[in-house]
Amino acid sequence: MDKPRPGDGAAHALWGGRFKGGLAGEMEALNRSLDIDWRLWPHDVRGSRAWARGLERAGILTRQEARRIDAGLAKVATRLEALPGPAGLPDEDIHTVIERMLIEETGSVGGKLHTGRSRNDQVATAFRLWGKRAILALRDRLAALAESIARKARESRDIVMPGFTHLQQAQPVPAAHWLLSRAWPLVRDLEHLGAVHRECDVLPLGAGAVAGCPFEIDREALAADLGFSRVSENSIDTVSDRDWTARLLFGAAMTGVHLSQLAEDLVVFSSSEFGFARLGDGYTTGSSLMPQKRNPDVAELTRGKSGRLVGNLVGMLTVLKGLPTGYNRDLQEDKEAVFDSVDTLAVVLPAMTGAVASLTLDRARIAAALGTRVLATDLADYLVRRGIPFREAHHIVGELVRVAEDSGREPGQLALDEMNAVHPGFAEDVHAVFDPEASVQSRAVRGGTAAAALEAQFEAFTGALEEAVAGP
Ligand code: ARG
Repeated sequence: MDKPRPGDGAAHALWGGRFKGGLAGEMEALNRSLDIDWRLWPHDVRGSRAWARGLERAGILTRQEARRIDAGLAKVATRLEALPGPAGLPDEDIHTVIERMLIEETGSVGGKLHTGRSRNDQVATAFRLWGKRAILALRDRLAALAESIARKARESRDIVMPGFTHLQQAQPVPAAHWLLSRAWPLVRDLEHLGAVHRECDVLPLGAGAVAGCPFEIDREALAADLGFSRVSENSIDTVSDRDWTARLLFGAAMTGVHLSQLAEDLVVFSSSEFGFARLGDGYTTGSSLMPQKRNPDVAELTRGKSGRLVGNLVGMLTVLKGLPTGYNRDLQEDKEAVFDSVDTLAVVLPAMTGAVASLTLDRARIAAALGTRVLATDLADYLVRRGIPFREAHHIVGELVRVAEDSGREPGQLALDEMNAVHPGFAEDVHAVFDPEASVQSRAVRGGTAAAALEAQFEAFTGALEEAVAGP
């Protein structure tokens, strides 16, 4: 038999019988999802081979037919593997390509594969098979970034920097504490991904178009064959459920927001005004005009990419909102958003992982920026320890800061008698308060900045990261 080859044949019609004419050209352009769903082919082939085995178990295919279909699908996979992409293929989607090629390979027996199956449960299955893998790959990239930040934090344990609120210097903190504050959110993202994976890990196949399958398909066996942990329980819900995609997109958007915040820190801290941090040459770019420039492009691009991650989530929720019961073609929009978010993070996460590893902190600049004003709270706490109510102490120290400011000094530069002129509660030992290191060491509560608390935090972090990565 002279088999038509991809690109030279007419489109394989899945549903031609009821119709007289072909699709309008303009409609074909709208209808076609092949350029997007192309990457599902290995999963669709896998799902189809499992379905053939299921049909055989159900007595719908003879052993011989099932074998021919299986061998045909293997050949289809080889053909698809050899193709650079979907360009030039006439088919509307990847499922149509695979069925067309199967019939080209096997003749009419290939036409038996779609028995009891609809593209509705078929696409849901292929997408979830793809999704489970994509989630695991995403998780590995996220974990690599979290580890990179933690490594940098370990290196930076003995640097004390200002902690900020309102981007104003607030209280001194170890640089490691700041870095870890950007890594914990990624652990939460990993935990979320674990939950999305569990949600995605449900077999749709067997739900048919909407009402289930009339043949005696053993869905439990199908699930085991395809590596799904569970079988879906309601065929209507099964063909229309894209909740896992929305939750994956939320995870990607949340990660995008976390990355954007880290990126913003890097932009600010590597500015010449701050000068706290320097990104490696491999992650910065120069200007075509201004020779002095060292632009933190890795951080700006990351911050920028978070926009599309948020957009994809909003887009998907908007597609889902208002859908009537059952499968609706709107659902075809699910893949572009998910692929885009996953692809975006596949580029952004490794770049940020490298950028963090390349980061150097400038001790001298950080120390110079750290005035004694950030110790104002410690000064109030000093008075509290001498029995003065905090609200009063706060007021007294506020006055001290103003006195110092009026004479162009830092509070630590005031003499004891100047301080006592504001309030008699200060004694000789007050000058010990003006030490950022002492301030850091005084906050020994769990989650605080003292050395032992920081060590405990590192341990907790390692444990939490391991746990988040261990499942599913
Ligand atoms: N290409 C479609 C998708 O990506 C699957 C087709 C289901 N189409 C249908 N008319 N029932 O979702």
